[in-house]
Amino acid sequence: MWGYYHHLAEPQIKKVITVPLLKLTRSFSYNDAQRQKLSRSPKVIQRVENFLAGNWQEQALSMLQTEIKAVINRQVEYQGLMIDQACLSAKIRAGIDTIQTAYDLRSYEGYLWDLLITSPPYLQAQEYIRASKIDLFWMGYQEDQIRALSNKELPYHKVEPVSIHSATFEIYRQKLLEPKILQVYERYFFSVLGALTALAEHVREYLFLFVGPASLRAEAIPIDRIFAEHFESLGWTHEVTLVDVIVSRVLFRSKKNPATGLDNHRMRTEHLIVLRRNSNDNS
Ligand SMILES: C[S@@+](CC[C@H](N)C(=O)[O-])C[C@H]1O[C@@H](n2cnc3c(N)ncnc32)[C@H](O)[C@@H]1O
Repeated sequence: MWGYYHHLAEPQIKKVITVPLLKLTRSFSYNDAQRQKLSRSPKVIQRVENFLAGNWQEQALSMLQTEIKAVINRQVEYQGLMIDQACLSAKIRAGIDTIQTAYDLRSYEGYLWDLLITSPPYLQAQEYIRASKIDLFWMGYQEDQIRALSNKELPYHKVEPVSIHSATFEIYRQKLLEPKILQVYERYFFSVLGALTALAEHVREYLFLFVGPASLRAEAIPIDRIFAEHFESLGWTHEVTLVDVIVSRVLFRSKKNPATGLDNHRMRTEHLIVLRRNSNDNS
């Protein structure tokens, strides 16, 4: 199937079948997608053995068909939401490097958007490129391209230090004594807050930022408080932080981190920070 995919000349068909094919490949893989590292587990071995014991070809085709229908239905639903298409002008750019985009805007003056709604990475809670490496290989990416993507991923992106206007940021910085951990902490806030601050200059009204209190060496970092303090000092009003309890998703599974022997803290909440630009602030 991947051979067919790579042979296809039609970009439109490719777009419809990429995600269904990736999902199918994941279902038939011995890799346990719940784990960050590429590895087998008794649960997935059992799943693949069950497939192999039955008519797996038929099952695969039917799964693929279901997923392709789901993609098409979502497209139709999305198009249906654009009630008055004549009034709508949208520019969608996906997969772009936030830091580059934010820095490209440095010379631009004035507002570009009314709102910014985003969910940046939560420290190292998820490693997105590592978790999708095998998918990228199937899609035809080369090893050096994947490495280049990993290097751009937050918080691993090398960035220049920026000012973080938050007393909480300093308090936690003092607590992190290991140089490597301190580097991750600093790079995270320098890159995420550096990019968000540059983008926020072009936002007229509201910032909505989703984050979770991820941990570094068993220390839960109050990312939301640091973000709120930073933007308050830059002329934004912190209106509210809404807290949601995570019930179904697990970001850390094992009780102990195998690398450190320290307790892993399961992230229990996700926070939505709402910031409004102060009305007298025209900068
Ligand atoms: C917490 S997730 C949020 C994803 C999405 N906004 C959502 O709500 O489903 C953070 C996302 O940031 C992406 N990311 C990491 N580094 C990035 C970078 N330098 N530029 C753009 N996106 C990046 C990750 O791949 C991941 O998809």
